[in-house]
Amino acid sequence: MAIYWPKIGKITTTNNFMDNKTQRDTTFKKEVLEGLSSFPKYLSSKYFYDKKGDKLFQEIMAMPTYYLTKCEFDIISTNTREIGELFRDRENGLDLIELGAGDGKKTKVLLKYMVENNFNFVYKPIDISENAVELLTQNLASEMPNLSVDAEIGEYFQVLERLKVFDKRKKVIMVLGSNIGNLRHPKAIEFLSKLKDTMLPDDLLFMGFDQKKNPQTILDAYNDKEGITAAFNKNILTRINRELSGNFDIEKFTHWESYNPETGTAKSFLVATEAMDITIDKLDTTIHFNKWETIHTEISQKYNDEVVGWLANQAGLKIESVFADERRYYKNYAFSKAQD
Ligand code: AVJ
Repeated sequence: MAIYWPKIGKITTTNNFMDNKTQRDTTFKKEVLEGLSSFPKYLSSKYFYDKKGDKLFQEIMAMPTYYLTKCEFDIISTNTREIGELFRDRENGLDLIELGAGDGKKTKVLLKYMVENNFNFVYKPIDISENAVELLTQNLASEMPNLSVDAEIGEYFQVLERLKVFDKRKKVIMVLGSNIGNLRHPKAIEFLSKLKDTMLPDDLLFMGFDQKKNPQTILDAYNDKEGITAAFNKNILTRINRELSGNFDIEKFTHWESYNPETGTAKSFLVATEAMDITIDKLDTTIHFNKWETIHTEISQKYNDEVVGWLANQAGLKIESVFADERRYYKNYAFSKAQD
């Protein structure tokens, strides 16, 4: 459908000998082995998102305690015109690229505004979840038939290089949901800086950053009594069982959340409630767990204006505007490339 992108994608895949799917599977295997062989053990939260994980994440977003989605939805709904007009191009249209698009619920508010106001644009959602990309594409085709959509499955850092091909007209890159919070500050700076490298002076980066607040509010968002977040966290083990023929007994792990109000870092763990040996056939390996041994699975960083300003500065970005919800639980920042 889109003119600029698919060609590049095809070149990479045909020349690469492995297709994308095979490549993703290989990376999954490698990273699972690496993480579970390390001390302390860790697994990447990017592996939460398969069909079941996406569904659990949607349930999380619907929980009253998970304020992030509601805040960002409020911000975008309240400021649709102002944000839309920030995005507007001067002459030959624009590419709207969204990293981690998910179900697109918040983005649709902006997409509707842009379609209704005759913006000439292509929407390019990119997500790590094959399932999410498929569902979103189908959903947009039926709900917004006039919209040009060119979706892709991919990981942030792998997709970055290819964003450079979007240099024929204005581009707006969106990363919503405080997805950047999964990265520690040095990685976040690297990510922002690589985004900046793909940007021209007129381009914009529009991102959501969850803010520091009452530590209890944050803990409650990641530690629901219903056990939805626990199931989401454990889905990574279910995935290893299914895709790599592992024999994790999910019941023998417990979800643990911590929040450090000084650093603003929320961390999720899976804790082994007894000693055990786990075999993972497709990795030809056995992993030993001591009783109370942990697997670190996710960080969800919380920010304030100073920290966002510092990250932006380190990455060569300039803050153009800031939008917040009433309680200031959450903020969306529009960045441009800083002039040097
Ligand atoms: C989608 C990464 C922003 O960290 O808040 C929700 C994922 N993890 N509950 C977050 C998540 C546990 C979420 N992000």
